[in-house]
Amino acid sequence: MSILITGGTGYIGSHCAVELLKNNFEVVLLDNLSNSTEAVCKHLYKICGKKPNFYRGNINNEEVLDYIFKCFDIKAVIHCAGLKAVGESVLKPIEYHENNVEGTKSLLSVMQKHDVYKLIFSSSASVYGNPEYHPIDEMHPLNPLNPYASSKVKIEEILKKLSIENSKWKILSLRYFNPIGAHDSYLLGDDPTGQPNNLFPFIMKVAMGEREELEIFGNDYNTPDGTGIRDYIHIMDLVDGHISSMLYLEKMEASLNYENINLGAGRGYSVLEVLDSFETVNNLKIPYRFTERREGDVDNSYANISKAKVKLDWMPKRTIEDMCTSAWSFQKKKILV
Ligand code: NAD
Ligand code: UD1
Repeated sequence: MSILITGGTGYIGSHCAVELLKNNFEVVLLDNLSNSTEAVCKHLYKICGKKPNFYRGNINNEEVLDYIFKCFDIKAVIHCAGLKAVGESVLKPIEYHENNVEGTKSLLSVMQKHDVYKLIFSSSASVYGNPEYHPIDEMHPLNPLNPYASSKVKIEEILKKLSIENSKWKILSLRYFNPIGAHDSYLLGDDPTGQPNNLFPFIMKVAMGEREELEIFGNDYNTPDGTGIRDYIHIMDLVDGHISSMLYLEKMEASLNYENINLGAGRGYSVLEVLDSFETVNNLKIPYRFTERREGDVDNSYANISKAKVKLDWMPKRTIEDMCTSAWSFQKKKILV
């Protein structure tokens, strides 16, 4: 039996693949390589001694999907494929809708055709918008502030509706907070091919000397040191959350077909705190300067992870220091490999 991972050569998909391969699942990766490279498959082989089945293709292409479902006995899908740059989504809202929402519809239609009803969807904390309270639980109102976040809300709505209409579906929407860090081999990590958007890829560029300084977007937020607070979670803790989710899908009550679950570490760090931790554990100096706030950024965002702890029997284990060490170790190794 196989697990299909869409967006399988991307940051989160590839880290899920490594754990599934290690746990003797057959893994099929589908990715259009818009933000990753096929080299990931080589690294997966180095780490696990097993090759994933890789297909370069688009989730919007039902023929490709149909072919994969015909070739493999797919048991469940981890659906990570998607465009994720918030700023770009404001400039290209239709592209984000087409790729993320319409692409998901194609996937669902082909899954249904092949009687595959188990799905884990990569959602995002961005669905909550500006938090009304902390920590943010799954009951928090949804208030998407940009087309990227709207695409996640629309997909969640489609998934929920589908699960009501057909009780065969078993679907989890995992609302990720801020995954960072790398696999212990340091052969896999966050390695976007395009322009980076998130904090850590920018810190890496400064650490590598490719940029002179980090721009910290705003120091007048309503937080103790004025910089934005986020809930950073080690990528391997996030992956453990997916493995627990796969087990949970197997034993989900018959009456329950759909759930939203937060995956974060359950505590927040400011940009300055993260930077301090990164400099200390890696013995590096990261020059920075404060700039204007980035449009759409919120002061503070951290998760209530009680639901994940109870339902998935899962706990994040790694510290912010682990995250900072592993992110830099991956970056250093990347130069050598
Ligand atoms: P990523 O860009 O590294 O991986 C996504 C992969 O999907 C890429 O390899 C890309 O080439 C592929 N892709 C995009 N559109 C596709 C399409 N139409 N068909 C096939 N492949 C396609 O991003 P990631 O960080 O691994 O994120 C995975 C998922 O998790 C995304 O849906 C993202 O929105 C969501 N998410 C990520 C974060 C984060 O901070 N990384 C936070 C919340 C949610
Ligand atoms: C962003 C998205 C979120 C998406 C996630 C994954 C926004 C508003 N949110 O989350 O919807 O799910 O990425 O793609 O874009 N920062 C700097 N300098 C930088 C980069 C970031 O100071 O060069 C700060 C930000 O202002 C923020 C923190 O670092 O306070 C984290 O930023 P980032 O890594 O982009 O994540 P989010 O904004 O939380």
